[in-house]
Amino acid sequence: MLNGSVDIAPDKSITHRAIMFSSLARGTSHIVNPLLGEDNISTCQAFEAMGVEITREERKLIINSPGFEQLQEASDVLDFGNSGTTTRLMLGILSGLPLFSIITGDRYLRQRPMLRVIEPLRRMGARIDARSGGKLLPAAVRGGALNGIDHRSQVASAQVKSAILLAGLFANGTTTVQEPELSRDHTERMLPFYGVKVQREDRWTSVQGGAQLHPVDMTVPGDISSAAFFLVAACVTPGSAVTICNVGVNPTRTGIIDVLQQMGAKLELRNQRTVCGEPVADIEVCHSSLSAVDIYGSTIPRLIDEIPALAVAMAFAEGKSTVKDGSELRVKETDRIATTLANLKALGVEYSEYEDGFAITGDPERKLPAGAVLDSYGDHRIGMSAWLFRLLQPTIEVEGMECVAVSFPGFQQKLQSLQSNGALS
Ligand code: S3P
Repeated sequence: MLNGSVDIAPDKSITHRAIMFSSLARGTSHIVNPLLGEDNISTCQAFEAMGVEITREERKLIINSPGFEQLQEASDVLDFGNSGTTTRLMLGILSGLPLFSIITGDRYLRQRPMLRVIEPLRRMGARIDARSGGKLLPAAVRGGALNGIDHRSQVASAQVKSAILLAGLFANGTTTVQEPELSRDHTERMLPFYGVKVQREDRWTSVQGGAQLHPVDMTVPGDISSAAFFLVAACVTPGSAVTICNVGVNPTRTGIIDVLQQMGAKLELRNQRTVCGEPVADIEVCHSSLSAVDIYGSTIPRLIDEIPALAVAMAFAEGKSTVKDGSELRVKETDRIATTLANLKALGVEYSEYEDGFAITGDPERKLPAGAVLDSYGDHRIGMSAWLFRLLQPTIEVEGMECVAVSFPGFQQKLQSLQSNGALS
């Protein structure tokens, strides 16, 4: 069983943006409680290669930038590792700067679709060439002299939205992005802290070119996408009662809370407050009898990264749960429909696969097979989701857990700290 309270890993999306915007602002910014996972380190290294000084202190980053006008051309290829957010947002930023850059990433990132940002950035005037007809990394960017565009994105993607808006800060005129459903809005919430005006209405967001950013002091809340593993862990492990402190509860990210509550989870938000424009709360959660749920439509972008963890909850819920409209899952760090189901298959869970989702037949009395071997498939969220099954069957093994360092260094230790007597229950 899991008992006690924990602080969760800081928010990856918010940390990326804080590093980027601070690196564009002339002067010294302080970022308190940043995530220093591998993805965020990729973002730091990109700006360090362009002349920004970044000092890491205990739970703080000090970013001293000459300002975006003075950034230098990186003298080598920028390697963004596994980080899709670094890649897509940096494609936007680099398109607006009069620099030549070459971008690559690891074997997972080099398979992920980039045309969704490259095509609109080219329309703004960026000269970008990339492998496979402009679709895949490596990419070469020659930035500068952009014109604002009105972009209607086909996907509800905060990475696409943010990339175009960030390029728009350096473009002539107005840049507007419309998305089919509202995706996470950290860029829109954070830019005004740096002195940049953002206009928003429903699913439209606009910025004006010629922006100037000023340095800030910023605090990053805990990541609800990391908290998701603990929420599900407490729900499915008998006897558990856990408080997860300091979790970002931005409404564009709280689909996991709504869905778990819909499934019957005993889950309460306490001590709600706002930190640097982001809603934050402590979340209390107990072991709960879960029932099946259907997830689709505008809920999907509000919990896109939490679907692998929710699949674990679905495996223990009464009835058949479904996920639809989730084809974006196919182009995450791995094909998360395939990798989620591959691990469920290894555990004998009954499921169906759809092009845009899956169905899982749950069983509250489920007995997990001893000694089953699961795999992260090199994807941090798949690895952490698979690890949760060990709470109920400690002989299960999960291969390739080193990838959790991408978003949640110390995940296993933190989970262990909540286990009574330090032993797996
Ligand atoms: C992110 C946006 C989401 C999410 C990713 C982080 C961001 O991706 O899956 O982990 O920080 O903007 P998409 O924008 O591709 O949906």
